[in-house]
Amino acid sequence: GDDAEVLAALRGLPVLITAGPTREALDPVRCLTNHSSGKMGYALAQALTAAGAEVTLIAGPTALPRPALDQFVAVESALDMYAQVLARVAECAIFIAAAAVADYRPASPLPTKFKKHTADLTLHLTRNPDILADVAARIAPPFTVGFAAETVTTVEELADLATAKRLNKRLNMIAANRVGGDSGGFERDDNALLVLWDGGNHHLPLQSKTQLAAALTILIAERYALSTA
Ligand code: CTP
Ligand code: CA
Repeated sequence: GDDAEVLAALRGLPVLITAGPTREALDPVRCLTNHSSGKMGYALAQALTAAGAEVTLIAGPTALPRPALDQFVAVESALDMYAQVLARVAECAIFIAAAAVADYRPASPLPTKFKKHTADLTLHLTRNPDILADVAARIAPPFTVGFAAETVTTVEELADLATAKRLNKRLNMIAANRVGGDSGGFERDDNALLVLWDGGNHHLPLQSKTQLAAALTILIAERYALSTA
């Protein structure tokens, strides 16, 4: 049918996907991280592979089984993920940033286990690179797809914040979702997404991340095909 025709644009295309959280070391036994399950990125890797794309998945630590992909790269920190993305981005046609990358890392991770003292402790954090923004700012960028997780109440607020993110980072497409409260997203099997691009948008209602990934893959295929036409 129509979907199969749209998805044909992805056949044989090299696609790079990031997924999962990152872990930012404080010392050899402690880290800063977040609650990303990795499910959305893994489901996208599966949906794009099913469409015939050549997927490389670069993933932070998750509880998910290792996916049946030829190209799977396990990473820990944002800097690890950044290095693995930069090593492969020149060859990819589409880059999808589904990872929940830590925005900051401990400035000076300790080489040995930290010993507690009586006083409170202040952590000094350093900004991590924005992997997605740096990929989109390349001279010949791939088709870039980002995510935006926002603690907002209305869909209008969500659209405004996500559009600002899309424009600031010069993305082809952004998939936004509300987080916090009971609105889906992190650590859940289902989610709803508002997908925005230059001149259009599409709302994907609450459904499983597997179904969402299939629907998002169709939108990506459509917009990608138009961007190269
Ligand atoms: N992202 C990235 N590298 C980072 C931070 C974010 O590649 N260091 C990507 C994420 O994978 C996601 C998008 O940028 O696709 C947006 O992430 P998000 O955390 O929602 O936005 P930020 O730009 O980090 O802004 P903030 O957290 O302040 O809302
Ligand atoms: Ca962030």
